[in-house]
Amino acid sequence: DGDRKKIFIGFSQSINNDIWRKSMDHAMEVEASLHPEINLTIYNANRKAKKQIKDIDNMIEQGVDVIIISPFESDSIVPVIEKANIKGIPVIIVDRKVNTSNYTAYLGADNIEVGRIAGKHIVSLSNGHANVIQIYGDLTSSPGLERSLGFKQIVKQYPGIKVFDVDSDDFGHPKTNFVKVLDSIPNIDYVYSFNDLIAYNGWKIAKDKGLDKKIKFIGVDGLNGPFGGIQLVKDRVLEATVLYPTGGSEAIKLALKIVNKEIVPKNNMLNTILIDSLNADIMSNQFDKIAVQQSDIEQQQSVIKNQEKKYSSQSNLLKLLFSL
Ligand code: FRU
Repeated sequence: DGDRKKIFIGFSQSINNDIWRKSMDHAMEVEASLHPEINLTIYNANRKAKKQIKDIDNMIEQGVDVIIISPFESDSIVPVIEKANIKGIPVIIVDRKVNTSNYTAYLGADNIEVGRIAGKHIVSLSNGHANVIQIYGDLTSSPGLERSLGFKQIVKQYPGIKVFDVDSDDFGHPKTNFVKVLDSIPNIDYVYSFNDLIAYNGWKIAKDKGLDKKIKFIGVDGLNGPFGGIQLVKDRVLEATVLYPTGGSEAIKLALKIVNKEIVPKNNMLNTILIDSLNADIMSNQFDKIAVQQSDIEQQQSVIKNQEKKYSSQSNLLKLLFSL
């Protein structure tokens, strides 16, 4: 295997201060470790559009085999994507969309559908009569815009549902207008927020005001594990969350297919689903099983690597002995 041609994959991550992003990075690393021929390098732009462009430029210069991008901004990144395209380097876009079609493939879940699922859930729980706060994420990003679009498409069909829009900061906290709405509108029934982290931080504010039992919180992401949305549903902090898979392992699989000259669809959709108290256990059990299998494989890989090291040092020793 060591003789097989290496495949260089560069991944440009836009943000790295939350568990969803970390889980995406981790899923890529795990998937890459299953293919010893893959050499994966992850770059972090730390919310800086310029840094992200520089990172991608760097990958182009190195002549990597595939570039995977989780975009921060959808416009400023276009020229560097087109540059890669001209140089013949395949580009895979994950999560946020970009304002060009000069890339090889896009991978992500349908955010309009995410918003619709949240909207339908509130409609069915409330029979179409509710006061709802919607906590926006970044409306300049496609997930933010589409999650709100899909949500409004559904709830606007019900005149009994009133929506109050508030926004959040870059670090997953609702802005002060959230508190203002809580204080001025006496019967808020639901909070729908752009992701689970914002929902959780909103819930803490509501809890301080003694409103946590009255208001049902719905988030997005549904990560498995200690601080993830599934656990928050199990803990009854969130009424529900809408699964938004990171696509980490799928991105690596897609990159491999592209390198192997397979034809891949331009649009690769990941599935989304509502997670509430009815299916939270099943969902986390399923994800746990996958995680156990993955860590078994990771362990095997490291055993193999150690064996290889031992073997090569033994054979070096033999070579040395024979040369004496
Ligand atoms: C994490 C995050 C996720 C969300 C995605 C959308 O940085 O905000 O919660 O699903 O990015 O881009």
